[in-house]
Amino acid sequence: MILQKILTLSIFGTLCFIFLWTFWPEDSKHLRLDVSFPASVIQQPEIVEPPKPQITSTDNNKKIKNEPIEKTLPSNKLSTVYDVNGNPKEYTNSRYYANYLSILRQQHHQMLSTLLNKADNALRNNSVYSVTLKPQLAPSNDPHDFMSLARYFWPNPKKKNGLPYIGRDGYVNPEIETVKDYSLLRKLFKDVENLGFAYYFTRNDSYVEKSVYRIKEWFINPKTKMNPNLNYASFIKGHKSGRRTGVLDMHPIYRMLQSIPLMRSSHKWDFSVEKELKDWISKYYQWLETTSLGKDEKYSKNNHGTYYDVQAVYLLSYLDREEEARKYSREALINRVNKGILPTGQQPHETKRPTSWFYSTFNLQALFLLAERSQYFGFDGWNYVGPKGQTIKKAVDYLLPFALSNGKDWPFKNIKEFEVNSFVRLLELAFVIWPDDKYLEALVILRPKAKLEQALEYRNADWEDNYLCVWSLMTNRQLWTCVE
Ligand SMILES: *[C@@H]1O[C@H](CO)[C@@H](O)[C@H](O)[C@H]1NC(C)=O
Ligand SMILES: *[C@@H]1O[C@H](CO)[C@@H](O)[C@H](O)[C@H]1NC(C)=O
Repeated sequence: MILQKILTLSIFGTLCFIFLWTFWPEDSKHLRLDVSFPASVIQQPEIVEPPKPQITSTDNNKKIKNEPIEKTLPSNKLSTVYDVNGNPKEYTNSRYYANYLSILRQQHHQMLSTLLNKADNALRNNSVYSVTLKPQLAPSNDPHDFMSLARYFWPNPKKKNGLPYIGRDGYVNPEIETVKDYSLLRKLFKDVENLGFAYYFTRNDSYVEKSVYRIKEWFINPKTKMNPNLNYASFIKGHKSGRRTGVLDMHPIYRMLQSIPLMRSSHKWDFSVEKELKDWISKYYQWLETTSLGKDEKYSKNNHGTYYDVQAVYLLSYLDREEEARKYSREALINRVNKGILPTGQQPHETKRPTSWFYSTFNLQALFLLAERSQYFGFDGWNYVGPKGQTIKKAVDYLLPFALSNGKDWPFKNIKEFEVNSFVRLLELAFVIWPDDKYLEALVILRPKAKLEQALEYRNADWEDNYLCVWSLMTNRQLWTCVE
């Protein structure tokens, strides 16, 4: 009996040690990771040969049988250990766990190498990012006003000049690419995010210098700056102003805002620039709160409203209005789960769109961001249950079988394909949040499909980001860069 006790304790101790050794930052304030790993580590990961998977009788497991499951998911997860009274207890098999951690370590190296690659590209890029470059002015005639063209609007064939354009929901007019403000704004946010993370891992100040340069160029420099409004976002040609739906253009601002605090420890970080940025953000938030474009977007029921909430929480936090951010994140999470998810997990405001699959995933991403923020502020939004039993997890589970079956029997109109890349990103997180084995099992099937989409250059493919968010969740309990 004593022997069994010792055995139990030592297995548990080893697991704790492996886990802490792998994921505990050496010094949470000055984390340094060795990034000079040999190329062979990236290319040929050493994987402990795990035991053969056990196949049970459900349909999903039958599908898994044909996949190279051994490489990523040994199924012999539990070992039985007897307690002092001879009662069996199940513990995670140490070999399974060690193998799982070794896979995570390899992914960490891959993630880091991808991240530094992106940051180096951002560093080397010397083109100007500015709203003043567009060949066509907004109706205000102010070159500093941001403008983006409405995605789903096309020339009216019954009018000679095609004006005003008319809507065809779900069908993107390629003409939107002629005004680059929208894509430059997204590039800016991604660049600053990648540069900030790269600095966090390498402490190389060049990344910070470039971030400061980009922030000045976009928000502050009198020649190139953007005015703090979205009056002409999602603009329909032939109209006088933009639309409330254009507020969505700014949603990836959280990427920049979550990265800035990581750079403040660098001597290249410029606090006077940051003061001006805060001033800009403060004016922009005021614009959101006081214009009809901002207010209408806030009260919209679908993904537009959810992403408005995500923006608001991040902006309030950045402006040091933490108590408001705390309150907002909790109320928004409750409201969006109560009104945006049915007891079955269906998201009814998204499934009525012609691109119902895309928008169901897209809104779920926003719900994940809100849940993470609410948890950060002390409210467990991940497990909040609405009055009819609605939860975010149910919304994930609702989509899962359709992701696995490539949309078979999806009961809604869907004029686009059933891309899984964005959903896979959510599943990776879902497994960390609710350790439910069916997510891991589904990932074995869906990851290769996501990779294929990436290879085919589908719009939403950015698969390598996954690991960074899993890693950051496990270390700092923060959801970094996880969702689009
Ligand atoms: C720099 O970024 C701009 C904006 O995205 C892009 O058009 C350009 O091709 C990039 N330049 C290089 C050298 O990567
Ligand atoms: C910082 O990164 C840049 C770009 O990768 C590199 O050229 C430079 O040598 C690095 N500086 C230091 C001090 O490592």
